[in-house]
Amino acid sequence: MFRRQKSADAGAKTPPSGDFVVVVDEAVNSFLVMFHEPAGFRAEQVRSLRNRLVAMNPDGEPKTLVITSAVRGEGKSVSALNLAMAFSELEWQKVVVVDADLRRPSCERYLNLNPGPGFSDVLLGNATLDEALRPAGYRNLQLLGAGSTVGNPAEILGVSRIDDLFQRLKERFQYIVIDTPPVLPSTDAGVLSARADGTLMVVQLEQSLKGQTRDAVRVLSDMGGNVLGTFVNGVRGQDPDSDRRLAYEPREVTED
Ligand SMILES: Nc1ncnc2c1ncn2[C@@H]1O[C@H](COP(=O)(O)OP(=O)(O)OP(=O)(O)O)[C@@H](O)[C@H]1O
Ligand SMILES: [Mg+2]
Repeated sequence: MFRRQKSADAGAKTPPSGDFVVVVDEAVNSFLVMFHEPAGFRAEQVRSLRNRLVAMNPDGEPKTLVITSAVRGEGKSVSALNLAMAFSELEWQKVVVVDADLRRPSCERYLNLNPGPGFSDVLLGNATLDEALRPAGYRNLQLLGAGSTVGNPAEILGVSRIDDLFQRLKERFQYIVIDTPPVLPSTDAGVLSARADGTLMVVQLEQSLKGQTRDAVRVLSDMGGNVLGTFVNGVRGQDPDSDRRLAYEPREVTED
């Protein structure tokens, strides 16, 4: 199990810039700050969260980490991708991001990749992991996309299927970051959270409702999830543009 810690801020609105691009395509979601602005303040905030999670795992055991939120549109998928990218910067770590949102999948779209076989196909035994895993286009990060559309996602998310898949992913990867649907509208996130080592709640500052987030944390805890903390999106005013003391660009070397 991960040891519990407090929250970290990350991923507020930032326009895309440009250097250090690995997949050269502007269609990659502009909020993927690890991709578009790896030297920026927001990317550094994501790394700070990553470092806390690494510190919570002193034995270096493979870990499954669910990213979820109370309701839709709070930034789960972007946060999951940013965090997975940050993990993959640690060169010795093998990392996979799993799109376990079988209702409104978005990881492939945000990475500008075509849909392929993925999570649902592997769960149902219709594809092997080797067939379904693909490079995410960022360093060595691998992607297990959502896969084929299924009629009733809750039906295929059986505990033994999930345990089996998580075990097989742990044989290959150090960090398994799992994007899920929101907690309150469906049971998927609760089921996945209960089988994962840790869960992070995404909260959108000034948008998320405290009561809904609290209800969602209670649901996850009741179902056996290990809620580690929150991933706060949309923080305004805490960036180098509004407070220069937060800026720490490398000093320019000038010749005398
Ligand atoms: N920090 C941010 N500030 C403003 N907008 C953001 C931020 N992060 C993501 N977005 C945008 O908000 C929308 C929702 O983001 P995202 O898809 O990550 O949320 P989600 O919680 O996964 O949504 P869903 O519940 O539909 O799966 C997207 O259009 C995304 O580009
Ligand atoms: Mg999503």
